[in-house]
Amino acid sequence: MEEKIAVKVVKSKAEEVRRKLKLLGLIDNDFKPKVEEDYVFFPLKTTNGLDVLTKDYSLEVASTFFKRRSEKARSLREALVNILPEKLHQYIPSSIDFVGDVALIHIPEELESYSKEIGRVVMEIYPRVKTVLSKQGETIGEYRIRMFNVIAGRLDTETIHREHGCIYKLDIMRTFFNPRMSGERLRVAQLVKDNEDVLDMFAGIGPFSILIAKKNSTVKVTAIELNPDAYRYLLTNISLNKVEDRVRAIHGDVRQVLRGIETVYDRIIMDLPFDSLKFLGLALSKLKKNGVIHLYHVESGEDPISRASTRVAKLAEELGYKVELIYSRRVLEVAPLKFIITLDLMKTN
Ligand SMILES: C[S@@+](CC[C@H](N)C(=O)[O-])C[C@H]1O[C@@H](n2cnc3c(N)ncnc32)[C@H](O)[C@@H]1O
Repeated sequence: MEEKIAVKVVKSKAEEVRRKLKLLGLIDNDFKPKVEEDYVFFPLKTTNGLDVLTKDYSLEVASTFFKRRSEKARSLREALVNILPEKLHQYIPSSIDFVGDVALIHIPEELESYSKEIGRVVMEIYPRVKTVLSKQGETIGEYRIRMFNVIAGRLDTETIHREHGCIYKLDIMRTFFNPRMSGERLRVAQLVKDNEDVLDMFAGIGPFSILIAKKNSTVKVTAIELNPDAYRYLLTNISLNKVEDRVRAIHGDVRQVLRGIETVYDRIIMDLPFDSLKFLGLALSKLKKNGVIHLYHVESGEDPISRASTRVAKLAEELGYKVELIYSRRVLEVAPLKFIITLDLMKTN
């Protein structure tokens, strides 16, 4: 810690003042700003020229101790423990998701008043990040879009995301996309055999369909998507990944679209976790005998897999089908004891 001359500013004005201090070249970037109660302290190189700001803001010049920015923080936690009061350290988010150059972070309400600071820190630690979004609640509506606030960086949130050798253009503000599902996409794509007919019922911007097609040039994939924005990106991504000859994208509701299609499929992906069971009958009616459904489903409790398997087997039987569970796993925990699980079901009649 070293003693420095500093400017003390109320938190609500801190970001505005920081920008102006930076423009005036007054901030001493060798030291880390610090927050105490409702105030932020910015270390200064000099106070010459500060009077330009004192007219517009109520600033106090003080002498106080700062930590040197000796090493770049390696994690969000490492950076934020220096900025946030100790009693708030327990709320520091433990993970950040990245979609292209957009960072997604869940900020608990205890840290909401520090959102801008957190956004700035994320951009400092991850220089490739152009925008930081804070997640607002769960995915909602038919299109399964999540609400976000821009807390740092540019407002344009369209980006290019890379996953398993494929590239995806998307805008997380307009379409669903979850980078945490990438392991599932690879697992499913690796199961696809030559010449399969695959149906991706809820294709989004295409990460299952495109990866499957990219890995195997003999397959035919039908990708259906309801959200017009996601469909537009799906088309773009099919051509960006040069799989136009293998992926057929259709815009619409699977319930209507599949009425006009005769094909029965070897494999069907049902990635609509909160609602997939509603479409199980439709999927089974479009699946070959011994074909496989990859069903994503939300289930709660201590043993979500056995609960869901029982539920699904019963539902399939009521619909007149027999299914064998050939694989299952918990994919993500979306809330305490609430999981997205996958069940791979083989149709046996
Ligand atoms: C959970 S997202 C999955 C997207 C994609 N599989 C992925 O990995 O990113 C579900 C998608 O299904 C679409 N959807 C919802 N209901 C649909 C329906 N009835 N017919 C076709 N698509 C639908 C939504 O717009 C959304 O993009």
